[in-house]
Amino acid sequence: MLNVGILGMGSYVPENVITNVDMEKKIDTSDEWIKTRTGIEERRFAPEHHDTSHMSYLAAKDALEMANILPEELDLIVVATVTPDRPFPSVSAVIQDQLGAKKAAAMDISAACSGFMYGMITAKQFIQSGDYKYVLVVGSEKLSKLINWDDRNTAVLFGDGAGAAVLGQVSEDKGILAFELGADGGGCEHITQEGPHLTMNGREVFKFAVRQMGESALSVIEKAGLTKEDVDYLVPHQANIRIMEASRQRLDLPEEKMAKSVHKYGNTSAASIPMTLVDELKNGKIKDGDIVVLVGFGAGLTWGSVVLRW
Ligand code: ACO
Repeated sequence: MLNVGILGMGSYVPENVITNVDMEKKIDTSDEWIKTRTGIEERRFAPEHHDTSHMSYLAAKDALEMANILPEELDLIVVATVTPDRPFPSVSAVIQDQLGAKKAAAMDISAACSGFMYGMITAKQFIQSGDYKYVLVVGSEKLSKLINWDDRNTAVLFGDGAGAAVLGQVSEDKGILAFELGADGGGCEHITQEGPHLTMNGREVFKFAVRQMGESALSVIEKAGLTKEDVDYLVPHQANIRIMEASRQRLDLPEEKMAKSVHKYGNTSAASIPMTLVDELKNGKIKDGDIVVLVGFGAGLTWGSVVLRW
């Protein structure tokens, strides 16, 4: 069977840094509370005129450049987002035009913070079947526009940004080795959008995430025919350092083997895993041949795990 992997990645990080001290000026909170409960120190907010499609476009351009693929060569664009510019047309259609990806089909995926995992696995199926050669997958969010400034429980958690990957065929021993996607719609009320704002039952989401991330990561490692000792690097969804630590401990990994960007970006939902991957590639933490485990969870409730040999 054809092996499918990541050929290139890119990200877009908005310039505007909002620190916890800035948050203290807006709502009844403290740097100390946010840091100890979540691990977040600052987050980025995109300017008003930069919507999700703009961030997606910038991340996608870098991913194409790193993959050395022309936009015209793309067969499909998948954008994972819960904060599209508008309900329709899709963000993917908007960037298809901006990129000049003339022959690419375009669709958005709504799986919240697991969206990038769902997007990657969708891409894998199209490529593995031989129908498509190159698929662009983007995770992009402008969560700042959903923040309820009267709700300190959620206002401090989220940030904006985008990450993208071009997927295609890779050499035999590389690429996606196993995956698991899942959903439990019974928990759909735990994190949702009510009117213009995001609402969340933090404790329920916390319990679900701690349980599901560890279980899903372990099961996908086993599916790949590996053991937790084989794992070189864990890239969990960056929602809360305590949730991330719980999954690291389930895999018995030392601290230096887990990617961390929650302190600087907050929770960027579908963008969190690709943005973090790009940072870890840039700083040399992920090396050729490494076994990398990606684990996401989010609204739906949904989850998704992928094991890759880089
Ligand atoms: N500043 C100060 N105090 C606060 C704040 C704040 N920003 N927010 C809440 N508090 C207070 C609460 O009011 C509460 O006070 P009380 O006991 O007097 O009522 C106290 O802090 C403790 O609240 P808890 O809910 O017990 O805090 P907890 O330790 O559970 O942390 C948190 C809350 C951070 C939200 C945690 O539950 C969490 O991370 N949950 C998971 C959230 C998550 O991952 N969401 C993303 C899902 S992904 C997606 O699809 C987008």
